[in-house]
Amino acid sequence: MEIIVANPAGFCFGVRRAVKTAEKMASLRPEVNTLGPLIHNRPELERLAELGIRQVEAVEEATAGTLIIRTHGIGPRELARAREKGLEVADATCPYVLRLQRKAREWAAAGWQVVLVGEMNHPETKGVMAWCEGKAEVIAGAEEARKLPFLPRRAVLAQTTQTQEGYAEVIAALRERTGETRVEDTICLATRKRQEATKQLAAETDVVLVVGGKNSANTGHLADIGRDAGRSVHLIERGREIEIGWFSEKDKVGITAGASTPAWIIKEVCMKMEEIKEQLEQSGEGAEAAAEPPAGGEGAPADIADPAGEANGTEGEAPVAAEGTGEDAAPGADEAELMEESVNYIDTFISFRPGQVVAGKVIQVGPEGVLVDVGYKSEGIIPLRELSHRFVENPEDVVRAGDEINVRILSINPEEGTLRLSRRQVLEGEAWERLQKSRAAGEILEVTILEAVKGGLVADVGLRAFIPASHVDVGFANHLEEYVGKPLRVKVLELERNKRRAILSRKVVLEEERNAARERIMGEVEEGAVLRGRVKSLTSFGAFIDLGGLDGLLHISEMSWGRVMHPSEVLQPGQEIEVIILRLDRDKDKISLGMKQILPNPWEKISAKYPEGAIVRGKVARLVSFGAFVELEPGVDGLVHISHLSRHRVQKPEEVVQPGDTVYVQVIKVDAEGRRINLSMRGIEQPAKGAAKNKREAESEAAADVPAETGWESPDETTGEGETADVPSAAGYFSNDEGSVEAK
Ligand code: F3S
Repeated sequence: MEIIVANPAGFCFGVRRAVKTAEKMASLRPEVNTLGPLIHNRPELERLAELGIRQVEAVEEATAGTLIIRTHGIGPRELARAREKGLEVADATCPYVLRLQRKAREWAAAGWQVVLVGEMNHPETKGVMAWCEGKAEVIAGAEEARKLPFLPRRAVLAQTTQTQEGYAEVIAALRERTGETRVEDTICLATRKRQEATKQLAAETDVVLVVGGKNSANTGHLADIGRDAGRSVHLIERGREIEIGWFSEKDKVGITAGASTPAWIIKEVCMKMEEIKEQLEQSGEGAEAAAEPPAGGEGAPADIADPAGEANGTEGEAPVAAEGTGEDAAPGADEAELMEESVNYIDTFISFRPGQVVAGKVIQVGPEGVLVDVGYKSEGIIPLRELSHRFVENPEDVVRAGDEINVRILSINPEEGTLRLSRRQVLEGEAWERLQKSRAAGEILEVTILEAVKGGLVADVGLRAFIPASHVDVGFANHLEEYVGKPLRVKVLELERNKRRAILSRKVVLEEERNAARERIMGEVEEGAVLRGRVKSLTSFGAFIDLGGLDGLLHISEMSWGRVMHPSEVLQPGQEIEVIILRLDRDKDKISLGMKQILPNPWEKISAKYPEGAIVRGKVARLVSFGAFVELEPGVDGLVHISHLSRHRVQKPEEVVQPGDTVYVQVIKVDAEGRRINLSMRGIEQPAKGAAKNKREAESEAAADVPAETGWESPDETTGEGETADVPSAAGYFSNDEGSVEAK
C-alpha cells in the first residue's frame, strides 16, 4: 500500500506564526491568554492549554498578563481596551489580514466607499469593519453586489479566504454599479492551495484521510473535495481514530490537512498508517507496495517532524498588487522568508513599547513629517521637530525615502494603529555617548556653532550644547555672532544627561595649546630671534601677535621708526608679519616684540642726509604749544620751535602752519643719537597756502617757490620730500633746548 501526503498540508504561514507566538509568550510570561480560540483544532488547543495558555472570549475577561490576538485580528478599540487594562498585547494577526485592515482604513479615511467581500459574521470581517469605523459594506457575493445602488466611487477588498473566481465575479458586478472602482487583491492562497492539493491527491488515491478539526469549515471542504472525486473519505482529528478496515484492498491512501492542522498530528497519522500498512502486509494485503516508503513531497512523515519543514515554498504567495495603485505591502512570496519575518515579528510583540529604539525604513518624506516602516501594523510618523535637533525646513535635507534609520517609539496609538517616532532622540542618545567618551578621554571635538544666544554660543554636537561666553576664547569674546556657522575646537566641560546639560569650552583647548606653545617658545627661543607671527588683535597701545599659540606684545612705539598714532595705521588683524623678540620674561611668561628693529633705520645716516644749514621740504605732522613737528621722511620728524616759525612774534603755532601743510625748513641742529632735529622756518619763503595738493604738484611748486636770491635747489624728484638742498649757512639761527623734543 502506498501512502501519499498532500503538498501542502497543515499549518499555513499565519497560523504557524500565531502558534509560535503563543508558545514563545508562554515560555516567557506566567499568564498568557488568547482572545478566542487561537485555531480551529481541538487537539492543538489542548496542547496549548497544557503550556498554560488560557482562552478568554472578551478583553474584559483577561485580568492581567499577555493577550494574544489570533490571526483574524481585532478592531482598534478592542486593542486599546486591552492596553488600557494594562495587558501586554501580542498581536498575532496574520500579516495578510493586517494588510487588509490597513487598506480598509486608508481608503475609508480617503473618502472611498469600501466594499468588503466576505462573511458578515466572520471575526476577520468584523475586525476589518472596525478599522474603517463600520463604514464598509459587506457583501457575500455577486448577487448582493448587483443589488447595490449606483455610487460614483467604490473601493473593493476581499476577506482573505475568498476564492479568486468569486471575487472576480463580484468585482465585475460592482463595476456596473460604480463610476470609479478601486480594487485590491487581498486573498490569501493558502486555503486554495490545500484544496487544489487535496483534489490532486483524490485523483491519485483510493482512500483520502482528511486530518483536522471536525468543526472546521475548511476541513469539511477538503472532505467534500475528496468525496466529489468519488473517493472514500475519512475525516479524523487524531491518528488513533483510523480503522484498518478502511483500507482493505486499497492500493493508495492519501493524507491531507487544512491550514489549522499542526504537523505533529499529521505525523501521528502518518505513523499510524505505517503501522496499518505493516499489519496489512503481514496479513497478505498490500504486499506489492510493502517496500515503498510513504510518497508525497516534503509533507512525508520524516519531514513533518519539523513544523517549519512542512513549507512548500509556494504557499502564502503575496496577493496580486492593487489595481491602479501599484502598492503592495503584503508579505513576500517565499515562505522561508516569511518565516524569518515571522520570528522577527514575534519578537517585536514582546518589546514593542514606547521608549524602545527600533530600526526602520523611510517610506515617505512629507512637509508634516516622515513616514517610517518599523514593522508595526502601519507606518510610524516622525514629526518634523523629532527629526533633528536642528531646525528642519525641508525634511528631505535630513532623510530620503529608502533610508534605513533608527528611531525611538514615542507613543503607540492602538486605536488608529499609529506610532509616533523620534529620530532626534536616537541621535541625541548617540551624541551623549560620544560626549561621555570624549570627556573621559579628554579629546578635542570639532563643533559647528548654530547660534549666538544670551551668554554664549549654541554648538552642534549631535545635540545642542552650550559654550558660555567666558569659554569662547581665552579673553572675553565680545562679538559672539561672528562665530555662528564656524567650526570651533572644544572640550567637554560639564555633562548632565538627566538635565540635558552639555557645556563645552574652547578656552580650555586654547589654554592648553597656549601652555604647550609657551613651553616650546620659552624653551627654544632667545632674545633677538626673529619669528613670524600673525596679528591677533589691536589695542590703542599696540598689537598682540600670535607666535603659534603664544601671544607677544608689539608696543606701538616698536612698530615703526616714524610716529604711529594708532596701530591700525601699520597693521591689520590677521596680517602675517616678522617680529623680533626684544625681551623674554620667562617668569611672567611675557614676550615683548619689535618690528621696526628689522626695518631700515632712517636715523642711521641722518647727519649726512640733513646737514645743519640745509633747507629741506617737509610736512607739518602735528602742532604742540611750543612749536610744530615737521616730518622730513617717514620716521624722521624735526621740531620747529615756536620762536622759529616766523620772523615775527607768534603766540600760537597755528597762526603760521596747520597739520598737513608742506613747508620748507632749515636744519639747525641734528642729534642722531638722541633722534632729534631742530628746524627753522624763520626767514624762509614758504609755498602759497593750499597750492600743493599732492606730491607732484608740491614738488613742482617747491621748485618754483625756491627764492632765487638764496640759491636753493628743489629736492631731488627721485628722493622725494625731505631731500636736502644746498643753502647758505644758517648757523646761529636757533639754539634753544626748550625745543629739543624726541622726534618720534
Ligand atoms: Fe493568514 Fe492565509 Fe493562514 S490569511 S492565517 S496565511 S489562511
